[in-house]
Amino acid sequence: MTGRAVTSGAVACAFAAALCGSLVRATAAGDEADCAPPHLSQTGLYDAGRAGVIDPRNRRFSPQYPLWTDGAEKSRWIYLPPGSTIDTTSPDAWVFPVGTRFWKEFRFGGRKVETRMLWRVSAARWIFASYRWNDAQTDADLVPADGQRDVVEVAPGRSHSIPGIADCAACHGSKRPGPLGFNALQLSTDRDPNAIHGEPLSRDMITLATLNASGLLSPARPDLMTTPPRIQTADPATRAVLGYFTANCGHCHNRTGDIGPDAPSLHHADLLRDGDDVIRRLGVHRTQWQVPGQRDGASVMLDRAAPDVSAMLARMRSRRPSSQMPPLGTVLRDQEAINAIEKWISRN
Ligand code: HEC
Ligand code: HEC
Repeated sequence: MTGRAVTSGAVACAFAAALCGSLVRATAAGDEADCAPPHLSQTGLYDAGRAGVIDPRNRRFSPQYPLWTDGAEKSRWIYLPPGSTIDTTSPDAWVFPVGTRFWKEFRFGGRKVETRMLWRVSAARWIFASYRWNDAQTDADLVPADGQRDVVEVAPGRSHSIPGIADCAACHGSKRPGPLGFNALQLSTDRDPNAIHGEPLSRDMITLATLNASGLLSPARPDLMTTPPRIQTADPATRAVLGYFTANCGHCHNRTGDIGPDAPSLHHADLLRDGDDVIRRLGVHRTQWQVPGQRDGASVMLDRAAPDVSAMLARMRSRRPSSQMPPLGTVLRDQEAINAIEKWISRN
């Protein structure tokens, strides 16, 4: 995919070299830019660089199955360089043009806390960055590469921390980094009405239909219009549970990650093929991690007929650092999701 150069000269790297150097460790020679600017208002998100009004070239989107982050409210935007397209040759792994930027804003209690950015600066490299909002809510400052601890209390004695670059890479990938909420399933027009933590879709948001109509997919994918991607299962509750798993677990629990190749994959592509088969595999896959208090060797990933030995449920309920799942990104357990999964189990 030939992308255009980064259009906004303001984002090139004339900024605070010290900060940039510490943010991006592995800088390949010849990159267009090797750092994130020190302030969010310099990243191209806002019109005329003023935090507040979104630059109309950035388009909002909302993945139908969101990631849960201690109850944060989120907004997301994408910028594609003019004239560029998304390479959809590999349907499961879209390739974004050089210059693409994504932002995600996190709010707790109605206040902006952090805005994360993913920026494809060259064919070889994406930059990860997070910006912490100031008290006056007028702009946000680049967070150091190892993140920032305890920035806002989300429950008595529990605080949200801004992840460091290594954590971004743990979820977004280090070998082939990229976005996680911008794919055919997440942007499908066949949107799941039962999605756990599902967000309302507003008219200004990008979907597969708007991408297709604007000619932004290359090659064009009319099949995504005639048969919008949908998790393959006849049961609506199973569909919603699998949607939750792919968004909250599937970026690590998949064939490409560090977790063994024989472990069941929660990658969106597998759910599009056969969701019921994924459920079946979860039910028979014996885990190395044993549910506390259960007989050794009895634990499986998730068996609707045997919730007590279901390691996925046990690890979602736990917030002990050594056992909690997801292993990073949250300090609270996702009670709404646990309730939904328990209800789905009891209907069995
Ligand atoms: C626990 C895993 C996890 C961590 C850690 C994480 N992300 Fe994400 N991120 C996701 C998932 C999953 C999505 C898509 C779902 C959503 O947005 O609700 C996402 C979405 C995003 C988006 C919107 C574009 C997209 O991917 O759909 C941006 C920008 C982003 N993350 C940046 C970052 C940055 C920068 C960091 C580190 C400071 C980071 N993320 C840390 C999992 C993670
Ligand atoms: C950031 C990556 C990441 C995310 C996100 C993630 N996991 Fe994991 N998971 C791992 C790793 C690495 C292991 C293996 C090490 C361990 O057991 O702690 C693992 C192991 C597990 C195991 C034990 C598997 C076995 O065979 O022993 C279960 C069960 C599990 N995860 C459930 C979940 C659930 C449920 C979610 C989503 C709610 C989730 N994980 C999200 C990385 C992740």
